[in-house]
Amino acid sequence: MTPMAPKCGVEIFGVSLAKCSDEEMDAIKQAIYEHGVAIFRGQDFSPESHITFGKRWGGIDVNNYFPLTEDYDEIAVVKKDPDQQTNIGGAWHTDHSYDQIPAMGSVLVARHLPPRGGDTMWAHMGAAYDALPDELKQACEGLEAFHTADHVYKEGGLYAQTDMGKSLRGQDMKTGAVHPVVIRHPHTGRKLLYVNSAFTIHFVGQTREESLPLLQKLFAAALTSDNQCRLQWKPGTVAIWDNRTTWHNAMNDYQGHYREMHRITLSGEALAA
Ligand code: OGA
Ligand code: MN
Repeated sequence: MTPMAPKCGVEIFGVSLAKCSDEEMDAIKQAIYEHGVAIFRGQDFSPESHITFGKRWGGIDVNNYFPLTEDYDEIAVVKKDPDQQTNIGGAWHTDHSYDQIPAMGSVLVARHLPPRGGDTMWAHMGAAYDALPDELKQACEGLEAFHTADHVYKEGGLYAQTDMGKSLRGQDMKTGAVHPVVIRHPHTGRKLLYVNSAFTIHFVGQTREESLPLLQKLFAAALTSDNQCRLQWKPGTVAIWDNRTTWHNAMNDYQGHYREMHRITLSGEALAA
C-alpha cells in the first residue's frame, strides 16, 4: 500500500478485486474508510465481477440520473462523447449526499480512456475538518444542512441545460436530505466536514442567503489544506472511494475524445454528528 498524496488516497498492490479473499476485502474497506480512496491497477474486472464485488460491501444504490448499461441496471455509465463539451462530475462534489441514507461509496472502472487527460481528483474531508480554524469549527457545532440534487438534474437545471442533458434520466425526481455539517465516520469515528458545493443548499433554520457566507467559507476551506490526490487512469484501473470521507472532481480536459467509465454506487448508512 502506497499513499497517493500525504493526506488522501492509497494505491493498493497485489490484489485482484474479482477474486479477493474476505481478509483482503476487510483490509481494502479499512483502507478506503481511512484514506478516502484506493486505486488498483491492472484489474481484470468484467461487469459481472463489478456487480459481485459491489454486493460484497452490502447493497447497490442505482443512480437515478445517469444512463445505465444495456445489460446491467446496477451499473451507471459515466461517459463523454467526442462532440460533447460538458462532462459528468466535472466540479467538486460527493455522490448522492442528497439521499437521507447517502451512498457509502463508489466503485469506478475505466472502460475507454482519452489519449491523455481525464484524471480524477479527490479531497479528504477529515483533513479538511482538522485544518479548519477554531472559529469555523465552532460555527459548525450543532449545525445541520439541507442537500438536494434538484437544481442540477431537473428540467432547466444545471446539467439539463448542457449538452449532457439529453442523456439524463429521472429529471422529475425530487430529492432532499438533512445531514449534520460535521459527521463522524461510521467506522473510524473520525470527524469529517460533510457539506459540498454541488448539493448542499442551506443550513437548517437559515435561508440560502443567510447560509452562504459560512457555506462558502467551508467550501473554500475544504480545498485549501493539503488534502488532495489525483489519479491518472490507465486501462484496468479501478478506483473505490468513500463518499463520506471525500469529495471528487472529474477533469474535463480531453475535448474531442471519448471517455467511458462504469460506476457502481455502494449503499451506505444514516449519518450522525
Ligand atoms: C462519478 C464521477 C468521476 C470521473 O462517477 O461519480 O464523478 O472521473 N466520476 O469520471
Ligand atoms: Mn461523482
